[in-house]
Amino acid sequence: MDQRTQEKEWARETADRIAAKVAVTAHRNRGKVPYTTAEGRFDDWSGERIGWWTNGFWPAQLWLLYHAYGNEEFRTVAEEVQDKLDAVLLDPMAMDHDAGFRFLISDVADYRITGNRQSRNRGILAASNMAGRFNLKAGLIRAWNDPGDGKTAGLAIIDCMMNLPLLYWASDELHDSRFRQIAMAHADSVQKVFVRENGSVHHIVEFDPETGRIIGPQGGQGMQVGSAWTRGQSWALYGFTLSYLHTKEERYLETAKQVADYVVSQISETGIVPVDFDQPADILWEDSTAAAIFACGLLELEKLTDGEQKETYYHTAVLLLHTLAEKRCSWDPEIDNLVEKCSAAYHDREHDFSIIYGDYYFTEGILKLAERDILLW
Ligand code: GLY
Repeated sequence: MDQRTQEKEWARETADRIAAKVAVTAHRNRGKVPYTTAEGRFDDWSGERIGWWTNGFWPAQLWLLYHAYGNEEFRTVAEEVQDKLDAVLLDPMAMDHDAGFRFLISDVADYRITGNRQSRNRGILAASNMAGRFNLKAGLIRAWNDPGDGKTAGLAIIDCMMNLPLLYWASDELHDSRFRQIAMAHADSVQKVFVRENGSVHHIVEFDPETGRIIGPQGGQGMQVGSAWTRGQSWALYGFTLSYLHTKEERYLETAKQVADYVVSQISETGIVPVDFDQPADILWEDSTAAAIFACGLLELEKLTDGEQKETYYHTAVLLLHTLAEKRCSWDPEIDNLVEKCSAAYHDREHDFSIIYGDYYFTEGILKLAERDILLW
């Protein structure tokens, strides 16, 4: 058996283990919208916290597994969360650049897999809100809403690259190129103002919302301004790959490879990913979510690449997934999360805990390697 076939077999066995564990945790956690775990049990971000940007990842993971395994409870639990997310669509202060994280991989996934028209409507509403965040002068999609001090109208963030597929989907679905035009204008501006010469990217860039003048980068969730926050690098790597897949514009593929080449040069042979590639050697905080997102992006990118670069992307993705599965996962069905040692931000007090999108991207990556995936982006 050649190596790719062996890895596919391994991924199929690992996907079976994920599906078996999630069958237990989905049943045990009916009614919850999880973000992390406390003493092995998912917490619940229903109610007042339903607007949190990660609340689409649990239904998204369930749709991936429903598509691959057909377990009806996965579908039911995903639908229950989506009903709760309606409150977000009705609250303009809860909607932001992360509309794809909330609605593309939950409701639009549901529409794609089951044809649910109510879910299609939710996706269109979310895309319309996201398109309305575009700043014409800067050519960038605004990130957060106004907390009351008027200081956030000129902020854009790299994470938004991963949400652009919601706009590409709406464009195709509605036969309306305005959504695509906005997504591409944003991606073009990000290439100019976020991507650095060595292929790494900024997290946040500030602009003047009246004139569009670029003011400069801010530090965000990484170690400092100019450092390489790993999850930010992963949003850029996968986000530009997806913009290429949806537009076939070579410039996005080139940028995706530029970021990927930088990322691959930073990943150690352990396959463990730090919170920031520039963090001091004695800081051991990890971010398994970045590892999982890198793996997903690299597995898409390797399909678009030839020769040595293709092999490098593939082998790096495989290293990351093996490390996660063998060293950074809980397979105990009494523990709700799969992936361990995630970090939300470098300067947070808490590190190395579980986060739901770590589980989501790990599941996506394993299903890709197993060739049992559906691209929700
Ligand atoms: N979208 C925020 C984050 O990646 O933590």
